[in-house]
Amino acid sequence: MSYDLVIYNGLVVTAADILPKSVYIGVNNGIIETITTAKITGKKEIDAEGGYIMPGGVDSHVHIDQDNAPAGDNFESGSKSAIAGGTTTMIPFAIQPKKEYDLIKVVEEYHGRANKNGGSYCDYGFHLIISEPTQEMLEISFPEVVEKESITSVKVYTTYPRYKLSDEQLLQILLTNRKNNVTTMVHAENSDIIDFINKRLSEKKLTQPFYHTVSRPQIAEDEASYRAISLAKMIDVPMLLVHMSCESALDHVKKAQTDLFPIFAETCPQYLFLTGDNLKHDCCNHGNHDDKFQGAKYICSPPLRSTQKDLEGVWKHLINGTITVFSSDHAPSKYDHPLGKKKGLINGIPHFKDVPNGLPGIETRLPLLFCYGVETGRITPQKFVELTSTNPAKLYGLSESKGSIGVGMDADFTIWYPKNKINKFELKNEMLHHSIDYTPFEGMEFTNWPRYTILRGNVCFDRDNGGVIGGQIGSYLKRKASTLAGPMKPLNPIFE
Ligand SMILES: *[C@@H]1O[C@H](CO)[C@@H](O)[C@H](O)[C@H]1NC(C)=O
Ligand SMILES: *[C@@H]1O[C@H](CO)[C@@H](O)[C@H](O)[C@H]1NC(C)=O
Repeated sequence: MSYDLVIYNGLVVTAADILPKSVYIGVNNGIIETITTAKITGKKEIDAEGGYIMPGGVDSHVHIDQDNAPAGDNFESGSKSAIAGGTTTMIPFAIQPKKEYDLIKVVEEYHGRANKNGGSYCDYGFHLIISEPTQEMLEISFPEVVEKESITSVKVYTTYPRYKLSDEQLLQILLTNRKNNVTTMVHAENSDIIDFINKRLSEKKLTQPFYHTVSRPQIAEDEASYRAISLAKMIDVPMLLVHMSCESALDHVKKAQTDLFPIFAETCPQYLFLTGDNLKHDCCNHGNHDDKFQGAKYICSPPLRSTQKDLEGVWKHLINGTITVFSSDHAPSKYDHPLGKKKGLINGIPHFKDVPNGLPGIETRLPLLFCYGVETGRITPQKFVELTSTNPAKLYGLSESKGSIGVGMDADFTIWYPKNKINKFELKNEMLHHSIDYTPFEGMEFTNWPRYTILRGNVCFDRDNGGVIGGQIGSYLKRKASTLAGPMKPLNPIFE
């Protein structure tokens, strides 16, 4: 029997195990058909030369073709960048505009965005962002969209004037999500604290990019995280806190987990690798220090935290299990573009509040954690797979096909070089495939990179032979309910 694709001679890693070196993986019709120690042959064969063979990366937090980032990535460039960084599945956001209560229409409009310019290079789903809940929408349109589009996750915000919800609205959504088996993702920062500081900063004309970090202190995330967890406990429903950036906020998650509440946490590369010093124009790897505005490249929310000790606090929670998923929060805007980061430079005067928030990172997510986590020995290869692929697949209802290597699963793989096979190199933005004119990780040293990215049996990225060689073959993924949280307690009858 011959296979479409056979991969062999590598170390097969799942969230649980590393299999012995000698296995062969046989793929037919995009599905893993066999994993065997007997030699098998295929129309195409990949010799992994002893490198790690992992399930394709699942990046469950990315912003693609969003209205607030007209100088960002579209599906073509964003998904190409994903593939070139070992990610085979991404979950971007479909955002409910204010006053649009037909959620099917909202999602259809996003399908249009995904299909433009030839479509996506990787598989994708959508999370829904609810910016204006009404009782009627939650009772009628919401269950319809969950059913029709199989969308099983919703993101809400405690901050940003455009999206921010009151605690009562959050409770209303948590209850609706519980009734529909939908996972809630929360951006937790106390918006009144931020507004209060912002007023003072603007009176004092402290508007340079660096003051962005001053305007959103750790206590704002700490308080809002604790509050969000409290609201989830009220309804007894699982919740994921997105892009967590500080140890004290993560301590609340750890406490809830210890008390057996299904609270999950996400962090991102920027909170492990970058400090707020980057928002100063004359710091770090910034090269030319003449550009007084370049700190704007590092404006994201929550902001980059101050010290190495802050970064270590997040690392500790990642290593010891508090953190469930590691995503990029890819939310890029070009720097040198009037609708990009430079939107905050008005007649030569900086206004950090007008700078579009967010950083590019879909392509660098896996290599950063692999080089600085796995190859340095801080985390095991299994832990890496759990955080970057298995857990996001389980949390977002994709675990029947994505997030692991097993017979019957989609043949999605990221294959790494054997250790020390490639020379250490410094990252340059021109190596990346996004449509953004900078990377916040410029100049960082990398000891490895995905060598092959395979999506449903198609070799889409071959770093040494053509780079991105796959087509725009990505499909929309219908998702099921999360399999990460256990059974819930019975619903409080007053909430029925
Ligand atoms: C939610 O999941 C439970 C348990 O699997 C199931 O009984 C219920 O019908 C589901 N509800 C909806 C609206 O899908
Ligand atoms: C994990 O690390 C965090 C941060 O240092 C700490 O607060 C927490 O108690 C640790 N948890 C366990 C189970 O070790």
